[in-house]
Amino acid sequence: MYRTHNCGELRKKDIGEKVILSGWIQNIRNFGSLFFIDIRDYFGITQIILSKSLLTISLGKEFLIRINGEVIERLSKNYNLNTGEIEIKVSKIDILNSSLPLPFSIIDKTDGSEENRMTHRYLDIRRNLIKKNLIMRHKIFLMIRNFLSMKGFIEVETPVLINHTSEGARSFVVPSRNHVGKFYALSQSPQLFKQLLMIGGIDKYFQIVKCFRDEDARSDRQIEFTQLDCEMSFVNENDVLIFFEYFIKHIFNNIKNIKLDTFPKISYFDAIKMYGTDSPDIRFGMKFCELNDLVHKKEINYLIKQELIVGIKIKKCKCFYTYDNINSILDNIKKLNNENFFWIKYLPDKTFIYSNKSFINKEICSIFIEYFQSNPDDLLFISYGEKKDARNLLHKIRLEIANCLNLINKKIFKPLWIKDIPLFEWEEKNNRYKSMHHPFTSPKEEDLQYLENNPENVRSKSYDLVINGTEIGSGSIRIYKKKIQNIIFKHLGLSKKEIESNFSFFTKALTYGAPPHGGIAFGLDRLINLIEGDEDIKNFIAFPKNNDGKDIMINTPSSLDMDKLKELYLR
Ligand code: AMO
Repeated sequence: MYRTHNCGELRKKDIGEKVILSGWIQNIRNFGSLFFIDIRDYFGITQIILSKSLLTISLGKEFLIRINGEVIERLSKNYNLNTGEIEIKVSKIDILNSSLPLPFSIIDKTDGSEENRMTHRYLDIRRNLIKKNLIMRHKIFLMIRNFLSMKGFIEVETPVLINHTSEGARSFVVPSRNHVGKFYALSQSPQLFKQLLMIGGIDKYFQIVKCFRDEDARSDRQIEFTQLDCEMSFVNENDVLIFFEYFIKHIFNNIKNIKLDTFPKISYFDAIKMYGTDSPDIRFGMKFCELNDLVHKKEINYLIKQELIVGIKIKKCKCFYTYDNINSILDNIKKLNNENFFWIKYLPDKTFIYSNKSFINKEICSIFIEYFQSNPDDLLFISYGEKKDARNLLHKIRLEIANCLNLINKKIFKPLWIKDIPLFEWEEKNNRYKSMHHPFTSPKEEDLQYLENNPENVRSKSYDLVINGTEIGSGSIRIYKKKIQNIIFKHLGLSKKEIESNFSFFTKALTYGAPPHGGIAFGLDRLINLIEGDEDIKNFIAFPKNNDGKDIMINTPSSLDMDKLKELYLR
């Protein structure tokens, strides 16, 4: 028998009981003839007292031991520990397994570098923090499955080995041994299969599913990640938004006891205009103010030639009274390699300091200060240049300043829906249109008139869920008529032959009474990371890849030997 109790279980009421516990050694305090040892398992930590005479070899951290002993009352109680009122007086000890010296400390605030922790991920998982995250992930998955099942959704698995298409992100390809020179691709998302399920008459589908995308990893992006993928038949945009807003509120309420307010809906164009991004963080103000009219009216030289001049006001910014402290926050902004901005600081004595730019002087500063109805202490940041660049730069400045001045309340959650996203964007380098969401997204009825001749004017029935500046989910109402689907493929530059070979199975399916349908997919790693207020989705994935796309513990990707390559006809 390995244990009668676990290491988090024993309490004062158990005093006098004879018990057996198994656990890893967290800590040893040596008092000569006696050792005070903390042993740890999945459930908690218990202190044991061990007489040196019972030991034949010396113990070390993370040795796995089994002890027999008696529960006794602890003299100096530790109320931070659930088991802190008792300890075990050991009568017998077995060493179940020894441990090498540890590569890093298995404690919450570990000294382990990311590389070290990833190489020994199984040790990292022994840390409370990662264990807690995995438990939370499990709880959220369970809640999702229960909630959606209750609401009439069924979970259906779809294939992972599918075909490569040139749409979307890059796919991972898998050579076929049986079919020489042919390849599968790992699914980037179950998009077409969930639509086929709707055509197959399934009313509401969901799947917690692994997706694979050959793209650069970041703190919110993995090459192998998990989506909650959903689809519903006979729905319009509002039906989807209402249901999934209710769903997200349910998760936050049940996991965090947080009641979220109604999610605002902002059009894509307004988001870009007001925040310079389609994933705005609305936990703080600083909306953009466009200054072209002012610049033209006042004939402000140099700026008058710019396509867009746009600014933000940081109110009551009670710091930055000298060039030096402004320069210190500018260091990160300078890394953006775009110098097309300037700042003006209105000082308490009603004078100002401003960026060192040849086209700015005191008169120009007072024009902006007045236009922004600034008060002493306010700080203005203004960017200019081509529309897209000026907005993007100011968006980054807005975030940098908010972080720097601690303007973001990290404890609150501010979701919003981004809607009316354009159907296409023009891709200069390929000289063709690209879907903003994906090619199966329905155009808005009122914009169908532009579809043939002015596709860039067509807005789509797609929507993104953004929370605290991160895109957590994205979806759309789908095209369910073959004719429109073919027009979209044509605009994307697909030839008849490509449509036939890549998508004929799908466009054919649309011709058998396909129902109107729509859905959404949430990035679950991102959602859990956000709910837990962490900075990196890796902390919520048991065995993540590093930012280089590698799992350095199993050393993948790796080379194949010549025999395997020959078997796959790759040599
Ligand atoms: P999309 O590609 O926008 O839509 O993905 C949906 C959500 O998945 C998350 N996500 C990621 N999370 C971690 N690492 C990644 N590399 C990564 N890529 C995406 C994001 C994103 O919002 N089939 C469509 C959905 C639909 O139309 O229903 C799709 O996959 O949170």
